[in-house]
Amino acid sequence: MQPAPRVISLLLVLVAACIPDPVITGHPPDAGAPPPDAGQQPTGKTADELTREWSGCMSLDNFNLANMATAWGGLAASNGQACTSCHGSGLYGVYIDRDATGMFNAISTMKAFLLVYFAADVTNQKMIVNESLFQAAASGQGSFQGHPPFDAKNNAGMTALRSFYNVTLTRQQAKTCDPSRIP
Ligand code: HEC
Repeated sequence: MQPAPRVISLLLVLVAACIPDPVITGHPPDAGAPPPDAGQQPTGKTADELTREWSGCMSLDNFNLANMATAWGGLAASNGQACTSCHGSGLYGVYIDRDATGMFNAISTMKAFLLVYFAADVTNQKMIVNESLFQAAASGQGSFQGHPPFDAKNNAGMTALRSFYNVTLTRQQAKTCDPSRIP
C-alpha cells in the first residue's frame, strides 16, 4: 500500500520546517546520545562534549572577576523576592548563592547547574549564554507559570554572566583550559 503523494509532500514540508531551529536551550538537551548526524563536520562535538570542555575553561578567578556571586546573590524579582530565597543552594534546579566558591563549584562541576547559565549550540559548535531560559522563566508563562517576573535581559546577574562568558571564551580560544570539571 502506497501513501498518497499529498501526504509525502506534507511530510517533507514538516521535516524541512524542523531543520532551521538549531538553538538548544533549557534543561540538558540530550540524554547522552549524540545525534547520529550531528552536522557537516565529521569531528563535530556533541552537546555533552562541548559542555564538559566549557567546564574546564571556567575558573574561580574569572568567576570572581565577573562578579558572578555578588550580582546573582543580590538579584531580586520585580516583586522584591530575592532569587536566593527560592534558588539558594540549587533549589528548583538553579544554583544562585552569595558564596562564590559554593556557586562556582556547583555550576562548574554539575552539568545540570551549568546548563542553566550556558547552553550547548551544537550546530555552531560552541557554548552560548542561556538567555532564552532566563527569558522563559521571567515571562512566567508556559511551564514557568507563576514564576515571579524579572527583567531577564538587563539585570546585574545577566551582565555578570555575559562577562563571565566572555572571559571563559577567551580562555578557551587561548587553549589554556583545564580538563573538564564535570566528573
Ligand atoms: C518564589 C520563588 C522563586 C523566586 C523568588 C525565583 N524563582 Fe526561579 N524558579 C522558581 C521555581 C519554583 C522554578 C521551577 C519552575 C518550573 O520548572 O516550572 C524556577 C525556575 C527558574 C529557572 C528555570 C530553571 C530550569 O532549568 O528550568 C530560572 C532560570 C530561574 N528560575 C531564575 C530565577 C531568577 C534569576 C530569579 C530572581 C530574579 C528567580 N528565579 C526567582 C521559583 C522562584
